Amino acid sequence: MNKKALKLDPQFGTKAIHGSFHYDKVTGAVMPPIYLSTTYAQKAPGEPISKYEYSRTANPTRDILESTLAALEGGNYCLAFSSGCAALSTLLQAFPSPYHVVLSNDVYGGTMRLFSQVFSQLGITFTQCDMTKPEQIIKAITAQTRFIWLETPSNPLLQIIDIAHVNELRKQHAPEVLLAVDNTFATPYLQNPLDLGADIVCHSTTKYIGGHSDILGGALILNDDALAQKLSFLQNAVGSVPSPMDCYLLLRSVKTLHVRMSAHCDNAKIIAEYLSHHPRVKKVIYPGLSHHPQHELVTKQMRDYGAMVSVVLNGNTEDVLQFLQRLQIFTLAESLGAVESLIEHPATMTHAAIPASHRQKIGIEDTLVRISVGIEDPQDLIEDLEQALS
Ligand SMILES: Cc1ncc(COP(=O)(O)O)c(C=O)c1O
Repeated sequence: MNKKALKLDPQFGTKAIHGSFHYDKVTGAVMPPIYLSTTYAQKAPGEPISKYEYSRTANPTRDILESTLAALEGGNYCLAFSSGCAALSTLLQAFPSPYHVVLSNDVYGGTMRLFSQVFSQLGITFTQCDMTKPEQIIKAITAQTRFIWLETPSNPLLQIIDIAHVNELRKQHAPEVLLAVDNTFATPYLQNPLDLGADIVCHSTTKYIGGHSDILGGALILNDDALAQKLSFLQNAVGSVPSPMDCYLLLRSVKTLHVRMSAHCDNAKIIAEYLSHHPRVKKVIYPGLSHHPQHELVTKQMRDYGAMVSVVLNGNTEDVLQFLQRLQIFTLAESLGAVESLIEHPATMTHAAIPASHRQKIGIEDTLVRISVGIEDPQDLIEDLEQALS
Protein backbone atom coordinates (compact mmCIF):
# COMPACT_ATOMS: atom_id res chain seq x y z
CA MET A 1 0.00 0.00 0.00
CA ASN A 2 1.44 3.31 -0.96
CA LYS A 3 0.64 6.91 -0.39
CA LYS A 4 0.88 9.32 -3.28
CA ALA A 5 4.22 11.08 -3.23
CA LEU A 6 4.19 14.15 -5.51
CA LYS A 7 4.29 17.40 -3.55
CA LEU A 8 3.47 19.80 -6.41
CA ASP A 9 0.16 19.55 -8.21
CA PRO A 10 1.23 18.90 -11.80
CA GLN A 11 -1.06 18.15 -14.75
CA PHE A 12 -1.97 14.61 -15.75
CA GLY A 13 0.80 14.05 -18.32
CA THR A 14 3.49 15.19 -15.88
CA LYS A 15 2.12 12.92 -13.17
CA ALA A 16 1.93 10.02 -15.63
CA ILE A 17 5.55 10.47 -16.68
CA HIS A 18 7.18 11.36 -13.38
CA GLY A 19 4.76 9.61 -11.02
CA SER A 20 6.49 9.16 -7.74
CA PHE A 21 9.88 8.34 -9.28
CA HIS A 22 12.17 10.95 -10.80
CA TYR A 23 15.43 9.03 -10.94
CA ASP A 24 17.21 6.40 -8.89
CA LYS A 25 19.06 8.09 -6.04
CA VAL A 26 21.96 5.61 -6.11
CA THR A 27 22.67 5.25 -9.85
CA GLY A 28 20.77 8.11 -11.47
CA ALA A 29 18.82 5.62 -13.63
CA VAL A 30 15.76 7.41 -15.00
CA MET A 31 13.69 4.24 -15.09
CA PRO A 32 12.87 2.44 -11.85
CA PRO A 33 14.83 -0.73 -11.10
CA ILE A 34 12.96 -4.05 -11.21
CA TYR A 35 13.52 -5.50 -7.75
CA LEU A 36 13.19 -9.24 -8.32
CA SER A 37 14.49 -10.26 -4.90
CA THR A 38 11.75 -12.01 -2.93
CA THR A 39 13.45 -11.50 0.44
CA TYR A 40 15.52 -8.80 2.12
CA ALA A 41 18.41 -9.13 4.58
CA GLN A 42 17.88 -8.31 8.25
CA LYS A 43 20.49 -6.93 10.70
CA ALA A 44 19.04 -9.05 13.49
CA PRO A 45 15.80 -11.09 13.71
CA GLY A 46 12.91 -8.66 13.15
CA GLU A 47 15.30 -5.79 12.31
CA PRO A 48 15.22 -5.36 8.52
CA ILE A 49 17.87 -3.20 6.85
CA SER A 50 15.17 -1.25 4.98
CA LYS A 51 11.38 -1.24 5.19
CA TYR A 52 11.38 -4.33 2.95
CA GLU A 53 11.29 -7.89 4.30
CA TYR A 54 9.42 -10.11 1.87
CA SER A 55 8.18 -9.22 -1.60
CA ARG A 56 4.55 -10.29 -1.13
CA THR A 57 4.30 -7.79 1.74
CA ALA A 58 6.03 -4.92 -0.06
CA ASN A 59 8.26 -4.53 -3.09
CA PRO A 60 10.08 -1.34 -4.16
CA THR A 61 8.96 -1.54 -7.83
CA ARG A 62 5.37 -2.16 -6.73
CA ASP A 63 5.63 0.78 -4.31
CA ILE A 64 6.47 3.12 -7.20
CA LEU A 65 3.58 1.79 -9.28
CA GLU A 66 1.15 2.16 -6.38
CA SER A 67 2.07 5.74 -5.60
CA THR A 68 1.93 6.65 -9.31
CA LEU A 69 -1.59 5.22 -9.70
CA ALA A 70 -2.68 6.91 -6.45
CA ALA A 71 -1.46 10.24 -7.83
CA LEU A 72 -3.30 9.73 -11.14
CA GLU A 73 -6.60 8.96 -9.40
CA GLY A 74 -6.13 11.68 -6.78
CA GLY A 75 -6.28 9.13 -3.95
CA ASN A 76 -4.17 8.80 -0.82
CA TYR A 77 -3.58 5.06 -1.16
CA CYS A 78 -3.22 2.48 -3.91
CA LEU A 79 -2.86 -1.28 -3.69
CA ALA A 80 -1.79 -3.20 -6.76
CA PHE A 81 -2.95 -6.74 -7.52
CA SER A 82 -2.26 -9.50 -10.01
CA SER A 83 -5.50 -8.82 -11.95
CA GLY A 84 -8.66 -6.73 -11.85
CA CYS A 85 -10.54 -9.78 -10.51
CA ALA A 86 -7.93 -10.19 -7.75
CA ALA A 87 -8.47 -6.53 -6.76
CA LEU A 88 -12.25 -7.02 -6.49
CA SER A 89 -11.84 -10.36 -4.65
CA THR A 90 -9.59 -8.71 -2.09
CA LEU A 91 -12.09 -5.90 -1.58
CA LEU A 92 -14.87 -8.47 -1.08
CA GLN A 93 -12.82 -10.08 1.68
CA ALA A 94 -12.45 -6.81 3.57
CA PHE A 95 -15.86 -6.97 5.28
CA PRO A 96 -17.14 -9.62 7.67
CA SER A 97 -19.74 -11.79 5.98
CA PRO A 98 -22.67 -12.19 5.70
CA TYR A 99 -23.26 -8.94 3.89
CA HIS A 100 -24.91 -7.51 0.80
CA VAL A 101 -23.75 -5.49 -2.22
CA VAL A 102 -25.78 -3.43 -4.71
CA LEU A 103 -24.43 -4.01 -8.22
CA SER A 104 -25.16 -2.19 -11.46
CA ASN A 105 -27.07 -4.28 -14.02
CA ASP A 106 -24.46 -4.15 -16.69
CA VAL A 107 -21.14 -5.31 -15.21
CA TYR A 108 -18.19 -7.21 -16.66
CA GLY A 109 -19.08 -10.93 -16.88
CA GLY A 110 -16.14 -11.93 -14.65
CA THR A 111 -17.32 -9.51 -11.94
CA MET A 112 -20.74 -11.08 -12.12
CA ARG A 113 -19.19 -14.57 -11.92
CA LEU A 114 -17.25 -13.60 -8.79
CA PHE A 115 -20.44 -12.46 -7.09
CA SER A 116 -22.78 -15.18 -8.29
CA GLN A 117 -20.51 -18.25 -8.27
CA VAL A 118 -17.71 -17.56 -5.79
CA PHE A 119 -18.58 -15.09 -3.05
CA SER A 120 -22.25 -16.16 -2.94
CA GLN A 121 -20.88 -19.37 -1.36
CA LEU A 122 -19.26 -17.31 1.37
CA GLY A 123 -22.40 -15.50 2.48
CA ILE A 124 -22.19 -12.43 0.26
CA THR A 125 -25.49 -11.61 -1.44
CA PHE A 126 -26.13 -9.01 -4.10
CA THR A 127 -28.94 -7.17 -5.85
CA GLN A 128 -28.58 -5.77 -9.35
CA CYS A 129 -30.40 -2.69 -10.51
CA ASP A 130 -30.49 -0.11 -13.29
CA MET A 131 -28.21 2.57 -11.88
CA THR A 132 -29.04 5.01 -14.65
CA LYS A 133 -32.05 5.48 -12.35
CA PRO A 134 -30.17 6.04 -9.08
CA GLU A 135 -33.37 5.90 -6.96
CA GLN A 136 -33.36 2.15 -7.69
CA ILE A 137 -30.11 1.86 -5.74
CA ILE A 138 -31.71 3.26 -2.64
CA LYS A 139 -34.58 0.75 -2.95
CA ALA A 140 -32.06 -2.09 -3.26
CA ILE A 141 -30.07 -1.15 -0.12
CA THR A 142 -30.75 -3.34 2.92
CA ALA A 143 -29.54 -3.21 6.52
CA GLN A 144 -26.75 -5.60 5.45
CA THR A 145 -25.47 -3.58 2.47
CA ARG A 146 -21.79 -2.71 2.79
CA PHE A 147 -21.14 -1.17 -0.59
CA ILE A 148 -22.46 -0.17 -4.00
CA TRP A 149 -20.44 -1.39 -6.99
CA LEU A 150 -20.84 0.33 -10.33
CA GLU A 151 -19.13 0.50 -13.70
CA THR A 152 -19.35 3.64 -15.78
CA PRO A 153 -19.14 3.54 -18.77
CA SER A 154 -20.54 0.06 -18.36
CA ASN A 155 -19.44 -3.07 -20.13
CA PRO A 156 -20.64 -3.71 -22.87
CA LEU A 157 -23.65 -1.36 -23.11
CA LEU A 158 -21.70 1.83 -22.34
CA GLN A 159 -24.35 3.17 -20.00
CA ILE A 160 -23.29 6.16 -17.95
CA ILE A 161 -24.06 6.35 -14.26
CA ASP A 162 -24.06 9.69 -12.48
CA ILE A 163 -21.43 9.09 -9.78
CA ALA A 164 -21.99 12.42 -8.00
CA HIS A 165 -25.76 11.84 -7.89
CA VAL A 166 -25.38 8.28 -6.57
CA ASN A 167 -23.05 9.65 -3.92
CA GLU A 168 -25.53 12.35 -2.86
CA LEU A 169 -28.39 9.85 -2.61
CA ARG A 170 -26.47 7.30 -0.57
CA LYS A 171 -25.21 10.08 1.73
CA GLN A 172 -28.82 11.11 2.39
CA HIS A 173 -30.26 7.60 2.76
CA ALA A 174 -27.45 5.25 3.76
CA PRO A 175 -24.24 7.16 4.63
CA GLU A 176 -22.59 4.01 6.04
CA VAL A 177 -22.76 2.26 2.63
CA LEU A 178 -19.54 2.70 0.63
CA LEU A 179 -19.42 3.57 -3.04
CA ALA A 180 -16.98 1.65 -5.27
CA VAL A 181 -16.47 2.49 -8.95
CA ASP A 182 -14.81 0.30 -11.55
CA ASN A 183 -13.01 2.96 -13.60
CA THR A 184 -11.41 0.56 -16.08
CA PHE A 185 -13.20 1.88 -19.20
CA ALA A 186 -12.68 5.56 -18.42
CA THR A 187 -9.18 5.45 -16.89
CA PRO A 188 -8.02 8.27 -14.60
CA TYR A 189 -7.29 10.33 -17.72
CA LEU A 190 -11.01 10.73 -18.42
CA GLN A 191 -12.65 10.50 -15.00
CA ASN A 192 -11.68 10.53 -11.29
CA PRO A 193 -14.49 8.91 -9.28
CA LEU A 194 -12.92 9.85 -5.91
CA ASP A 195 -13.41 13.52 -6.82
CA LEU A 196 -17.10 12.78 -7.46
CA GLY A 197 -17.61 11.22 -4.02
CA ALA A 198 -16.66 7.56 -4.52
CA ASP A 199 -14.81 5.83 -1.67
CA ILE A 200 -12.97 3.20 -3.72
CA VAL A 201 -11.81 3.09 -7.33
CA CYS A 202 -11.02 -0.23 -8.95
CA HIS A 203 -9.03 -0.83 -12.13
CA SER A 204 -8.24 -3.74 -14.31
CA THR A 205 -4.81 -2.35 -15.22
CA THR A 206 -4.76 -5.13 -17.82
CA LYS A 207 -6.72 -2.70 -20.02
CA TYR A 208 -5.87 0.92 -20.93
CA ILE A 209 -3.37 1.46 -18.11
CA GLY A 210 -1.31 -1.48 -19.41
CA GLY A 211 -2.38 -0.63 -22.94
CA HIS A 212 -0.33 -3.20 -24.90
CA SER A 213 -2.13 -6.53 -24.26
CA ASP A 214 0.86 -7.91 -22.37
CA ILE A 215 0.21 -7.38 -18.64
CA LEU A 216 -2.48 -8.65 -16.26
CA GLY A 217 -3.04 -6.40 -13.28
CA GLY A 218 -5.49 -4.68 -10.98
CA ALA A 219 -5.57 -1.84 -8.48
CA LEU A 220 -7.68 -0.35 -5.72
CA ILE A 221 -7.31 3.36 -4.91
CA LEU A 222 -8.89 5.01 -1.89
CA ASN A 223 -8.54 7.66 0.81
CA ASP A 224 -9.77 5.99 3.99
CA ASP A 225 -6.89 5.11 6.37
CA ALA A 226 -8.60 2.21 8.15
CA LEU A 227 -9.88 0.53 4.97
CA ALA A 228 -6.47 1.01 3.34
CA GLN A 229 -4.82 -0.73 6.32
CA LYS A 230 -7.29 -3.59 6.08
CA LEU A 231 -6.72 -3.98 2.32
CA SER A 232 -2.97 -3.82 2.81
CA PHE A 233 -3.25 -6.63 5.37
CA LEU A 234 -5.29 -8.68 2.87
CA GLN A 235 -2.96 -7.89 -0.03
CA ASN A 236 -0.20 -9.58 1.96
CA ALA A 237 -2.32 -12.26 3.63
CA VAL A 238 -4.16 -13.39 0.49
CA GLY A 239 -1.19 -12.71 -1.75
CA SER A 240 -2.64 -11.90 -5.17
CA VAL A 241 0.13 -9.41 -5.86
CA PRO A 242 1.61 -8.46 -9.25
CA SER A 243 5.14 -9.53 -10.17
CA PRO A 244 7.89 -6.86 -10.07
CA MET A 245 8.27 -7.27 -13.84
CA ASP A 246 4.57 -6.54 -14.41
CA CYS A 247 4.80 -3.53 -12.07
CA TYR A 248 7.70 -2.23 -14.15
CA LEU A 249 5.82 -2.78 -17.43
CA LEU A 250 2.82 -0.92 -16.02
CA LEU A 251 5.07 1.94 -14.96
CA ARG A 252 6.39 2.12 -18.50
CA SER A 253 2.87 1.98 -19.97
CA VAL A 254 1.44 4.63 -17.70
CA LYS A 255 3.91 7.20 -19.04
CA THR A 256 1.99 7.28 -22.33
CA LEU A 257 -1.52 6.85 -20.94
CA HIS A 258 -2.57 10.44 -21.74
CA VAL A 259 -1.17 10.30 -25.30
CA ARG A 260 -2.74 6.92 -25.99
CA MET A 261 -6.12 7.85 -24.49
CA SER A 262 -6.32 11.01 -26.51
CA ALA A 263 -5.61 9.08 -29.76
CA HIS A 264 -8.02 6.28 -28.72
CA CYS A 265 -10.84 8.79 -28.15
CA ASP A 266 -10.23 10.59 -31.45
CA ASN A 267 -10.31 7.32 -33.39
CA ALA A 268 -13.42 6.08 -31.56
CA LYS A 269 -15.36 9.21 -32.56
CA ILE A 270 -14.46 8.64 -36.22
CA ILE A 271 -15.43 4.95 -36.10
CA ALA A 272 -18.70 5.58 -34.22
CA GLU A 273 -19.69 8.30 -36.69
CA TYR A 274 -18.87 6.07 -39.68
CA LEU A 275 -20.78 3.08 -38.30
CA SER A 276 -23.82 5.14 -37.36
CA HIS A 277 -24.40 5.88 -41.08
CA HIS A 278 -23.83 2.32 -42.31
CA PRO A 279 -26.90 0.50 -43.70
CA ARG A 280 -25.79 -2.82 -42.16
CA VAL A 281 -25.76 -1.30 -38.69
CA LYS A 282 -28.91 -1.25 -36.58
CA LYS A 283 -27.58 0.76 -33.64
CA VAL A 284 -24.31 2.32 -32.49
CA ILE A 285 -23.81 2.76 -28.77
CA TYR A 286 -21.15 5.38 -28.10
CA PRO A 287 -21.42 7.99 -25.34
CA GLY A 288 -19.96 10.65 -27.66
CA LEU A 289 -22.90 10.44 -30.11
CA SER A 290 -25.57 13.05 -29.39
CA HIS A 291 -28.35 10.40 -29.41
CA HIS A 292 -26.71 8.39 -26.58
CA PRO A 293 -29.27 8.51 -23.73
CA GLN A 294 -26.73 9.91 -21.24
CA HIS A 295 -24.79 12.10 -23.67
CA GLU A 296 -25.36 15.24 -21.60
CA LEU A 297 -24.32 13.52 -18.38
CA VAL A 298 -21.18 11.98 -19.87
CA THR A 299 -20.17 15.35 -21.32
CA LYS A 300 -20.28 16.72 -17.77
CA GLN A 301 -18.80 13.69 -16.00
CA MET A 302 -15.94 12.66 -18.32
CA ARG A 303 -13.22 14.68 -20.04
CA ASP A 304 -13.79 12.79 -23.32
CA TYR A 305 -16.00 9.91 -24.44
CA GLY A 306 -13.67 6.93 -24.26
CA ALA A 307 -12.80 4.46 -26.98
CA MET A 308 -15.25 1.61 -26.56
CA VAL A 309 -17.95 1.40 -29.22
CA SER A 310 -20.75 -1.19 -29.11
CA VAL A 311 -22.70 -1.96 -32.25
CA VAL A 312 -25.88 -3.92 -32.92
CA LEU A 313 -25.74 -5.27 -36.46
CA ASN A 314 -28.63 -6.01 -38.78
CA GLY A 315 -29.12 -9.68 -39.55
CA ASN A 316 -28.77 -12.76 -37.40
CA THR A 317 -26.03 -14.20 -35.20
CA GLU A 318 -24.57 -16.14 -38.15
CA ASP A 319 -24.16 -12.87 -40.14
CA VAL A 320 -22.41 -11.30 -37.17
CA LEU A 321 -20.02 -14.23 -36.77
CA GLN A 322 -19.15 -14.05 -40.49
CA PHE A 323 -18.51 -10.31 -40.23
CA LEU A 324 -16.15 -10.89 -37.27
CA GLN A 325 -14.20 -13.51 -39.19
CA ARG A 326 -13.79 -11.30 -42.27
CA LEU A 327 -12.01 -8.49 -40.44
CA GLN A 328 -8.30 -8.17 -41.14
CA ILE A 329 -7.00 -5.34 -38.92
CA PHE A 330 -9.40 -5.71 -36.00
CA THR A 331 -8.46 -8.78 -34.00
CA LEU A 332 -11.27 -11.00 -32.79
CA ALA A 333 -10.32 -11.27 -29.13
CA GLU A 334 -11.52 -10.62 -25.60
CA SER A 335 -10.09 -7.77 -23.56
CA LEU A 336 -9.81 -4.12 -24.50
CA GLY A 337 -7.82 -0.95 -24.04
CA ALA A 338 -4.70 -1.78 -26.02
CA VAL A 339 -3.06 0.03 -28.93
CA GLU A 340 -4.43 -2.52 -31.41
CA SER A 341 -8.13 -2.56 -32.26
CA LEU A 342 -10.02 -5.54 -30.86
CA ILE A 343 -13.54 -6.72 -31.53
CA GLU A 344 -15.60 -9.32 -29.72
CA HIS A 345 -19.04 -10.87 -29.41
CA PRO A 346 -20.19 -10.39 -25.78
CA ALA A 347 -22.94 -13.05 -25.90
CA THR A 348 -20.44 -15.84 -26.63
CA MET A 349 -17.24 -14.31 -25.27
CA THR A 350 -16.84 -11.76 -22.42
CA HIS A 351 -20.41 -12.03 -21.17
CA ALA A 352 -21.04 -15.73 -21.78
CA ALA A 353 -20.89 -16.26 -17.99
CA ILE A 354 -24.10 -14.21 -17.68
CA PRO A 355 -27.23 -16.36 -18.15
CA ALA A 356 -28.89 -15.75 -21.56
CA SER A 357 -32.15 -14.66 -19.90
CA HIS A 358 -30.33 -11.96 -17.90
CA ARG A 359 -28.37 -10.86 -20.98
CA GLN A 360 -31.60 -10.41 -22.89
CA LYS A 361 -33.25 -8.61 -19.97
CA ILE A 362 -30.48 -6.02 -19.77
CA GLY A 363 -30.10 -5.58 -23.55
CA ILE A 364 -27.03 -7.61 -24.52
CA GLU A 365 -28.42 -8.81 -27.84
CA ASP A 366 -26.93 -11.74 -29.76
CA THR A 367 -26.10 -9.39 -32.65
CA LEU A 368 -24.15 -6.97 -30.43
CA VAL A 369 -20.42 -6.61 -31.02
CA ARG A 370 -18.06 -4.62 -28.80
CA ILE A 371 -15.15 -2.74 -30.35
CA SER A 372 -12.10 -1.55 -28.49
CA VAL A 373 -10.85 1.11 -30.88
CA GLY A 374 -7.07 1.13 -31.08
CA ILE A 375 -4.72 3.83 -32.23
CA GLU A 376 -4.00 2.62 -35.77
CA ASP A 377 -4.63 4.96 -38.69
CA PRO A 378 -8.43 5.48 -38.58
CA GLN A 379 -8.79 5.33 -42.37
CA ASP A 380 -7.41 1.78 -42.36
CA LEU A 381 -9.86 0.80 -39.62
CA ILE A 382 -12.76 2.16 -41.65
CA GLU A 383 -11.61 0.32 -44.79
CA ASP A 384 -11.42 -2.90 -42.83
CA LEU A 385 -14.93 -2.45 -41.40
CA GLU A 386 -16.24 -1.52 -44.84
CA GLN A 387 -14.90 -4.65 -46.53
CA ALA A 388 -16.12 -6.92 -43.72
CA LEU A 389 -19.60 -5.35 -43.61
CA SER A 390 -20.07 -5.54 -47.34
C1 LIG B 1 -14.63 -3.37 -16.52
C2 LIG B 1 -13.77 -4.52 -16.10
N1 LIG B 1 -13.49 -4.70 -14.80
C3 LIG B 1 -12.72 -5.73 -14.36
C4 LIG B 1 -12.21 -6.65 -15.24
C5 LIG B 1 -11.38 -7.80 -14.73
O1 LIG B 1 -10.04 -7.54 -14.94
P1 LIG B 1 -8.90 -8.68 -15.15
O2 LIG B 1 -9.19 -9.34 -16.45
O3 LIG B 1 -7.64 -7.87 -15.12
O4 LIG B 1 -9.02 -9.60 -13.99
C6 LIG B 1 -12.46 -6.50 -16.61
C7 LIG B 1 -11.92 -7.48 -17.57
O5 LIG B 1 -12.25 -7.46 -18.74
C8 LIG B 1 -13.27 -5.41 -17.05
O6 LIG B 1 -13.57 -5.23 -18.35
